[in-house]
Amino acid sequence: MTFFKKFDTIKMVIKMLKFNFDKDVDIESNLSRKDYIINKFNTCEMIGWNNPIEDEIVEDILKTSKKIKKNSECLVVLGIGGSYLGSKSLNELFKSYYTSNYEIVYLGNTLSTDYINETLDYLKDKDFTLNVISKSGSTLEIKLLFDIMIKYMKNKYKKEELKDRIIITTSPNSKLHEMAKENSYKTFFIPNNIGGRFSLITPAHLLPLSLNIDIKELIRGYNDGKKYKNQAYKYACIRNKLFLENKYIENFCFYNDKFIYFGEFLKQLFAETEGKDSTGVFPIYSIYTRDLHSIGQFIQEGNKIIFETTIQVDYKTKYKYKDSTINEINDKINQSVIKAHKNGNVYQNVIILSKLNEYNIGELVYFFMLSVSYSALTFGVNPFNQDGVEEYKKISKEKLEKII
Ligand code: PA5
Repeated sequence: MTFFKKFDTIKMVIKMLKFNFDKDVDIESNLSRKDYIINKFNTCEMIGWNNPIEDEIVEDILKTSKKIKKNSECLVVLGIGGSYLGSKSLNELFKSYYTSNYEIVYLGNTLSTDYINETLDYLKDKDFTLNVISKSGSTLEIKLLFDIMIKYMKNKYKKEELKDRIIITTSPNSKLHEMAKENSYKTFFIPNNIGGRFSLITPAHLLPLSLNIDIKELIRGYNDGKKYKNQAYKYACIRNKLFLENKYIENFCFYNDKFIYFGEFLKQLFAETEGKDSTGVFPIYSIYTRDLHSIGQFIQEGNKIIFETTIQVDYKTKYKYKDSTINEINDKINQSVIKAHKNGNVYQNVIILSKLNEYNIGELVYFFMLSVSYSALTFGVNPFNQDGVEEYKKISKEKLEKII
């Protein structure tokens, strides 16, 4: 037993994430500010996501997950932004294309009439549990859809049954929590000192994820992600330096379309954390080789405002073309793209995952969260607010006052 544990650790050390940052970027002056930036980070209030989640909470999530599977054919998740993208992205990442996964239906992240109509029609013949996820408990889209869903569920289920079919995930001091208490709905908490986009390792995402993936491995990887502190700082410095060289857009590149929502997750994480006070790098993502045949043209020869960060997975594919596996071919294409884009003066960072699994994704997510926080501090902005998002919420509330 001890031997295997030890071996496992060694294997992990060898098989962790690998970073290949662009060597042409001179970050010496930024590196000398390391202690200052890290001290600044350590004194921020909203860094509760650095503390390990309590085992008791994880056990409660797993127990609830079992219950959901027992009484429901699917889980309907009502959430938006940081209360949606974490679980959506990882569920998509680990979903199999053809074998069935436990079904999760996401609502609340769009007010598309088509989507809402079709989803509610679809749910008519399904037994489901509803998980409402909102840290503030006051987000417009969620309030609105929750209202619709409560009416819908009251028509479908007996009042008593709703207690077993509605789960609320919110912050301890929200009105939504009050409402959950009044109705005896099962409640999970998002700690006050963890913002939406940093809340992956909280019940907001762990509950929906627990239905399909190994959340304990995800948490283990996330906790171990702390070992990449130096690389996280270095990556932040490189991004800052590239910005000063007028590289205003970062393109996250993936060679697997299961990463589409992970791209969406990174878009939110970077944009909401860094995009303040008229500064920051604008994040986009691409799925290669598909997008090489569309925006690849712009990246190679267009306006030189882009740099790229490729997240590469060392897949082991069993199918071969002549003597090479599909992965080996993809890898060669990847290297060619990096070379071609570099020739076109597009700087290249590469992060390699030894394998696509929960542990490695946990490490990767922690790495990005830490790095974008350092990066925002390097840009001189507060990583943990999002007043720009609040602004639209405030105006919408005023405009819809008479309706909602
Ligand atoms: O990252 C954030 O803080 C935001 O994107 C929020 O998650 C989003 O606005 C949803 O907020 P709430 O969870 O309060 O409904």
